[in-house]
Amino acid sequence: MAPRKILESAVIPNRHAIVTYKGKRAGLLSEIGPDTRFVYDAGWTQDIACTLPSTTREHFWRNGLIPFFEHLGPEGWLRGHQARAGGTPDQDDFGLLLNYGADCIGAVGILPEDGTHVHPIPDADPVEAAATAPGRTLSGVQKKWLVYRNEQRFEPSIRAGDPATHIAKFNRVDQPTLVQNEDLSLRLAREVLGKEEVTAAAIGTVRGEDGVALIVERFDRLGEVRLRLEDFAQILGRPRGREFDGKYNASYEEAAAVITRHSARALIDLGRFFRLVAFNLVIGNADAHLKNFSLLERDGGLRLSPAYDLLNTIVYPHYERHTALAIDGEKRAFEDLHRDLVVALGVSIGLPRRAVDGALQQLAKRFANARALDVPPYAQPNDFRVRYRDVVLDNAERILK
Ligand SMILES: Nc1ncnc2c1ncn2[C@@H]1O[C@H](COP(=O)(O)OP(=O)(O)O)[C@@H](O)[C@H]1O
Ligand SMILES: [Mg+2]
Repeated sequence: MAPRKILESAVIPNRHAIVTYKGKRAGLLSEIGPDTRFVYDAGWTQDIACTLPSTTREHFWRNGLIPFFEHLGPEGWLRGHQARAGGTPDQDDFGLLLNYGADCIGAVGILPEDGTHVHPIPDADPVEAAATAPGRTLSGVQKKWLVYRNEQRFEPSIRAGDPATHIAKFNRVDQPTLVQNEDLSLRLAREVLGKEEVTAAAIGTVRGEDGVALIVERFDRLGEVRLRLEDFAQILGRPRGREFDGKYNASYEEAAAVITRHSARALIDLGRFFRLVAFNLVIGNADAHLKNFSLLERDGGLRLSPAYDLLNTIVYPHYERHTALAIDGEKRAFEDLHRDLVVALGVSIGLPRRAVDGALQQLAKRFANARALDVPPYAQPNDFRVRYRDVVLDNAERILK
């Protein structure tokens, strides 16, 4: 009898959460043993997510949390902090969302059934407090938290009423150029893809944290209004995976199919997506995975969001040397990328051949003239900006010419 008793006491009782959409209750999310179910409330008629059409009132997922909800929570640095502060196991997505999910990226929120959050009062340390502010969460791996502008500097969003208009992303001790790299990549993208195609962001500082941060302006908020924003892992319904590798489990062709299916202006957005993917290939971004593409609510429907999380990862020698997603059946080594492959990708996702050629020609010209690639004369040969430029010149030669 004894072993059974231990087993029973180790089982967490089924939990329930209220799911909100733009602040209004839309339905109930429940655990059923190891499975989960989302049920729309009677009378609710809007879709809260591409994978949860409201014409189907109940959505069921075996063995884990429905991927759309799973992807609302963090992966790396922030997950560790939330798990420790809230007293939940690191892998417990449902528990993390009950504590921190009221105000997620996008329009959906998760509340405990009684409407209150159960974990301790924020820490006195501003970093800890910002990372574990009750009812607020962010996805992604990198060290980051929500901030807002307060006169000349940025403040962590800690208290319930604090605005959370920006995301601050920080360097890691073992990667001291991440912030500068992303800033350079975003500036380069503005020149190459166009300013309106790229998230607004700038280098700044945040109270409580030494060193610089990349301060990214959120495009999923219009004042108090929460806009729907879904990443491609959510839209394809890919589970995150125990090692958070579900986001690499796809191809750029499958990502394009998300646009064909769900964008309100599919052909325009396919062209924008193609240019963005080509940009990522040229800058050596081996981390352009499913969670780094999203559809954003605009007037008239869902559209490909501005580009975000752009980085030249190839400058870091220990980093993955292959594309994050497959192209024509396999993940490609960056040094093997060439124009024919990229042209074939463009055509296979549904773009006319002349649109593909025109896009690559325009990218070639803009990369060649980009001021963001200018390296200061005093830079050392091992300066990451020198290596960055060399990666781009080498890739552009093979991919765009
Ligand atoms: N400008 C933005 N506005 C709204 N949401 C954003 C913006 N930039 C990123 N996000 C969301 O935050 C998540 C994490 O940001 P990201 O820059 O990708 O961080 P990481 O480097 O940790 O992956 C993204 O997957 C996206 O959902
Ligand atoms: Mg990301």
